[in-house]
Amino acid sequence: MGSRIPDEDIDRVREAVDIVEVIGAHLPLKRSGKSYKALCPFHSEKTPSFHVFPESQIFKCFGCGKGGNVFHFLMGHEKMEFPEAVKFLADRAGVSIRETGGGPQDASSRERQGILDALRAAASHFRSNLKSEAGAEARAYLEKREVTAQTADRFLLGYALAGWDGCLKALAGDVRESYLEEGGLLVTSRSGGKYDRFRNRLVFPICDARGRVVGFGGRVLPGADEGAPKYVNTPETSIYRKSRLLYGLHLAREEDLRGEGVVMVEGYTDVILLHQAGIRNAVATCGTALTPEHVSLLKRYTDRLSLVFDGDEAGVAAMERGLDVLVAEDMDISVVILPAGEDPADFVASRGGESFRDAVSGGRDLFDFKLETAVRKEDVTTSAGLSRAADEVLALIRRVRNPVKRESFLHRASEGLGVSRDALSSRLRQGPKRVSPLRSRRAPSSSSDARARCEGWILEALLGDASLFARAREEMPSERFEDPTLREAARRAFEVFDRSGRVVLAQVIQSEPEGAFKEVSERIFEQEMADCLPEYKKLYEDGLEEIARLNLKTRKGALQSALKEAEASGDRERKRALLEELVALSCQIESKSSGQ
Ligand code: GTP
Ligand code: MN
Repeated sequence: MGSRIPDEDIDRVREAVDIVEVIGAHLPLKRSGKSYKALCPFHSEKTPSFHVFPESQIFKCFGCGKGGNVFHFLMGHEKMEFPEAVKFLADRAGVSIRETGGGPQDASSRERQGILDALRAAASHFRSNLKSEAGAEARAYLEKREVTAQTADRFLLGYALAGWDGCLKALAGDVRESYLEEGGLLVTSRSGGKYDRFRNRLVFPICDARGRVVGFGGRVLPGADEGAPKYVNTPETSIYRKSRLLYGLHLAREEDLRGEGVVMVEGYTDVILLHQAGIRNAVATCGTALTPEHVSLLKRYTDRLSLVFDGDEAGVAAMERGLDVLVAEDMDISVVILPAGEDPADFVASRGGESFRDAVSGGRDLFDFKLETAVRKEDVTTSAGLSRAADEVLALIRRVRNPVKRESFLHRASEGLGVSRDALSSRLRQGPKRVSPLRSRRAPSSSSDARARCEGWILEALLGDASLFARAREEMPSERFEDPTLREAARRAFEVFDRSGRVVLAQVIQSEPEGAFKEVSERIFEQEMADCLPEYKKLYEDGLEEIARLNLKTRKGALQSALKEAEASGDRERKRALLEELVALSCQIESKSSGQ
């Protein structure tokens, strides 16, 4: 683990292999125009939408969205880790690679390993508590819920002792306290003392997809301290990232998820009791809403997802909005709402696994579900009500980029609303202006997002048109990128350009793209398919200009707070000077905005 392969060696490996040959060894590729096509190995489909581009050495599936360079193919298809994929191809191509130890990279991976070890030790401490005398009450609770000992083992269930330092004391000799703390196992009191976060609770260890314990959920036992929250969870730590974890996934992925799909439920207990009832493709979020990030995690395993919601009205209303962001996902998502007052655990307990499976297969398609909700919420016998329902549905369709999916949604909306397809599509065109396909679809939510978006445009332009490097060297060298992943990508782009005079995306991505860089690479994949050359120069210039405008706005904010200070301290001279500067700056911002 701890070692690292130098970038140059990774580059040499990539340059020595041909992605068409590598993928061709796994799939029957057929030439089609400027790319090669095959049925996508990452989702099931009948007509090929998986493309391999020899020129840029990348692959992309336009059905499920998966794409990347030759390493990513092996990571996805063969479930290899990145270094493993590099070594595998290096061996095949006869390229020798070095692995370096030491250095800062290693200190951080040692630390990571230290935290993981601490969490594993804590999990086994909790497990032995559950089996000890102190765990009698927790065992009784599990028995009442009909969780078998075998299931408890499979899910590594445990019990946190009732005192303040059960875990702390038990691990003191073996594990550094700082690792326990960074793993989220300790809480700091006001006086600075440390004590256990999990106390007198049933403990659900939360594992990553590879089955390593990365955090915990702790449930109160019935009759314990009144008023305590039902669950205490590990806070976000360097290795516990709720948005990238799904409870039970490491077990579910042992199943044939491609065929069966995944069943998403709300609670840890639900997952456990479903697995016990034979529904081993069940997972849950760790107490958060389901986000597109979770969906892309699941896309590695399947393209079918059923969302199962407890049948209480408040809960359904609350989650319903949250589903909007999932409509555009290239995933078949269906929604199941259980009978009032039941959660999946209750459901399988009273009716068994088979009935649960039936309930899941009777789920409504997510879009149809949203459509029905819109129709039910508005009075569609009035034209105002119908328009509102239509607009709500069109807002969903607008998110969809896959033209086939869009068409199908329009068709269904037309039927569901009783409005002609033509009327809907002309309304769709009237709606909020379409952003240029080159641009990000998502509106930035903060100023650093806005900045990252501009930096993304610039990087995209550089990768699309290498002649822009000459200008960028002055105007936007890599150090000036503020987003860390984009900065690293830009650094590599410059480096590769200096070495070879051209750069393609495959050379810039070293590991799975994330954050703003993920959006950039997705858009580049899309451009690969387009026949016309996008206006990269304009994109580049827009990015620079927008950054200049953002800088002015930041400066304006600083001036405004300085002005407040000057006012408070009665410094009239300074106040006048600041006001003048502010006016000048506002004019500048004004002129930039109107130029857009
Ligand atoms: P039971 O239904 O009581 O058997 O347990 P459950 O695990 O299914 O819990 P519930 O249905 O109440 O809640 C579903 C999920 O929401 C839980 O598994 C937790 O992830 C989360 N959750 C529930 N209550 C709390 C809470 O008090 N705090 C936090 N942080 N999360 C909670
Ligand atoms: Mn529940």
